[in-house]
Amino acid sequence: MRTQVGIVGAGPAGLLLSHLLHRAGIASVVLERQNREHVEHRIRAGVLEQGTAELLRATGLGQRLDREGMVHRGIEIAVRARRHRIDLAGLSGGKTVTVYGQHEVVKDLIDRRLADGGDLRFEAEEVQPAGFLGETPSLSWSEHGERRELRCDFIAGCDGFHGICRPSLPAGHATELDRSYPFAWLGILAEAPPAQEELIYAHHPDGFALFSMRSPQITRLYLQCDPDEDLANWPDRRIWDELHKRLESDGGWHLKEGPILQKGITAMRSFVCEPMQAGRLFLAGDAAHIVPPTGAKGMNLAVADVRVLAAALIAYYRESRDDLLAAYSATCLRRVWKVQRFSWWMTQLLHRFPEHDAFGRHLQQAELDYVVHSEAARRSLAENYVGLPFEGAGE
Ligand code: APR
Ligand code: PHB
Repeated sequence: MRTQVGIVGAGPAGLLLSHLLHRAGIASVVLERQNREHVEHRIRAGVLEQGTAELLRATGLGQRLDREGMVHRGIEIAVRARRHRIDLAGLSGGKTVTVYGQHEVVKDLIDRRLADGGDLRFEAEEVQPAGFLGETPSLSWSEHGERRELRCDFIAGCDGFHGICRPSLPAGHATELDRSYPFAWLGILAEAPPAQEELIYAHHPDGFALFSMRSPQITRLYLQCDPDEDLANWPDRRIWDELHKRLESDGGWHLKEGPILQKGITAMRSFVCEPMQAGRLFLAGDAAHIVPPTGAKGMNLAVADVRVLAAALIAYYRESRDDLLAAYSATCLRRVWKVQRFSWWMTQLLHRFPEHDAFGRHLQQAELDYVVHSEAARRSLAENYVGLPFEGAGE
């Protein structure tokens, strides 16, 4: 088998890349380890930056997004029993974010790729990239027990943090930088109407909590917990009690309870692999970097990478230019590090750090106080939260 771009992973990065390439007349094949059902129901984050939503709309993926996505013009930050609104739209020249689950984006992309005749191979086992340091890259994999091979011009490693592409880089080629945090998030999905329209990021002496949503019927909630926390220690009652305590800071507002549909623990880490390319292999999305979820940036950053990669591949095929491909990693990393900085900043601002002494706690309180009361600080938060302007290759 042969194609132009061999893509590993059918998450938002791999699927969107395949879609953007198809629109430019470039062929690709997507190899995904899991089955379709699995990738379509994996609950992940759910906030789209303005630019992410615009890109989906501009490339024909806006129908369900426009119907079901919830446009948010602000968020709230709760500190010591008081809620403060950050007017995202007012502080960013009218930009907004859209709450729409990542798995909904994935469903829309899969439907669209299949309708367009796309070649998506689910349950592709033991995928192995090869030959990318030379002129003849290829991907091999097992399908129904049989070994298959795909020859291609380029490989896109969109296979997430635990994928095979990053470990396939030559030894010593890349540097991995990371930071872990002394906490995790316990997340639930509850069948309960969201008790208010906007998200609430709550700083509380017992730990961070986040109020979010997926639809007018479904609330999404998170609690800071220990990194090695066992879900067995968190019966539903304990989760709700803790959420009420941390989120219901102002009098009058009450979280609505409902059956818990899903529970999980999300680890928190920051990670970057530099460079994000080797020869004809390009890493995009979680395969190249991880951000803690506090800034709601994971999927948006994956989309930003793919935008750069698609533009570089289109320039290669249409104009025989390889300068944009050569600059891929450097172009992406400029945004990656700004988004790492913002995600780290939101995380250190809002969580309880077990190692903090009194001085550390006072600094954190002063920073929270500054953020909610200074327009300059709120503007900076808003600018980053709605998404920094997209800088194309070479800019
Ligand atoms: N072979 C084939 N597919 C693989 C392999 C492999 N060896 N390893 C992983 N995959 C698949 C996974 O099953 C998954 O479907 O690659 C896909 C990677 O998708 P994501 O993890 O969703 O990563 P990405 O597309 O970069 O999107 C980033 O996902 O984890 C969230 O917070 C993150 O929102 C961000 C988004
Ligand atoms: C979510 O709704 O899952 C969500 C929202 C905001 C975040 C992280 C996750 O910062």
